[in-house]
Amino acid sequence: MAALEQLTAYEEDAVRAIAAASDAAAIELVRIEFLGKKRGRLKDLQALLGQVSAEDRPVLGKRFNDVKSRVEQACADRQTALSKPARSIAGIDVTLPGSPLRLGRIHPLTQTIDEFREIMGQLGFTSADGPEIEDEFHNFEALNIPQDHPARDPLENFYLAAAAAAHGPRLLRSQTSTVQIRVMEQRPPPVRIVSIGRVYRPDDVDATHSCMFHQMEGLMVDRHVTMADLKTVLRLFATAYLGADVHVRFRPSFFPFTEPSVEVDMRWQDRWLELGGAGMVDPNVLRAVGYDPDEVTGFAFGLGVERFCMRRHGVDDIRRFYENDVRFLRQF
Ligand code: FA5
Repeated sequence: MAALEQLTAYEEDAVRAIAAASDAAAIELVRIEFLGKKRGRLKDLQALLGQVSAEDRPVLGKRFNDVKSRVEQACADRQTALSKPARSIAGIDVTLPGSPLRLGRIHPLTQTIDEFREIMGQLGFTSADGPEIEDEFHNFEALNIPQDHPARDPLENFYLAAAAAAHGPRLLRSQTSTVQIRVMEQRPPPVRIVSIGRVYRPDDVDATHSCMFHQMEGLMVDRHVTMADLKTVLRLFATAYLGADVHVRFRPSFFPFTEPSVEVDMRWQDRWLELGGAGMVDPNVLRAVGYDPDEVTGFAFGLGVERFCMRRHGVDDIRRFYENDVRFLRQF
């Protein structure tokens, strides 16, 4: 019977096409071709069924239904198989669990700097920046540090020989006080800024000294600014960072750019720690930037960022911040 042969041919073709389909899109095309309800080869066979004689129809009808359900089943099985991820692609078993990702952390010094900015921001100090490669005017002269001052000794600084030929003497800044000058040159009083950044000194490296470290410079210039304001700001800052049990102490000192000058110590958890220098901005510095010292006064301070961070976290050696030992850095 021609109709039976056509059914057999249909089933063979379908089985072959289903096996050859290699992805979800291909098996869908096969399904439409062989099982599609609107048109396709099944529809043609159905039409054929209507043309056979009444006595052949039951046999042919049963055969038609058997073939149809086998093709449907084969097609569904292949669809399921193709929707599963392949176990192995080019020798890689994609079903194996992946290696866990290790999340990085923000470096403890960067965390400290962010926190310093946040605290000082709450006290009304905005953030300012200056270059790390400086000229002698900003690093020394405008800060009232004369030519023969020992701080200008080439052995106490990192001078850049290559830059000198093209631009005159240049050095890696030895303190963030340079930014005081750059800010005051650019804007009239009142000024209330902090500048946090790297400074460089050829110090011998030990547990508390590095040849590159960070300072936070603070500067406030306005009418009637006094040492009392300086101490208040430093105490508010220290208690915000370390806790309420901090005491701030001033010891007389000397810096060419402040008069009077002090060393700032803090007592926390029964230990004193020297944190930086401070003082009232010297009238010579105010004059160098065009401010009138009879009109305005100001205070400035420069604190060591590493020392603060070490103290708060109980870090015993400054070098740990720069060794890139993940076991150390992961703790913060
Ligand atoms: C200064 O650098 C002054 N510019 C501070 C200042 C600013 C005074 C404004 C007055 C007005 P000093 O050299 O003391 O001061 O350094 C300040 C702080 O930096 C020190 O107290 C210390 O905490 C830190 N520091 C200094 N040298 C090192 C170093 N080699 N390694 C790590 N921290 C250091």
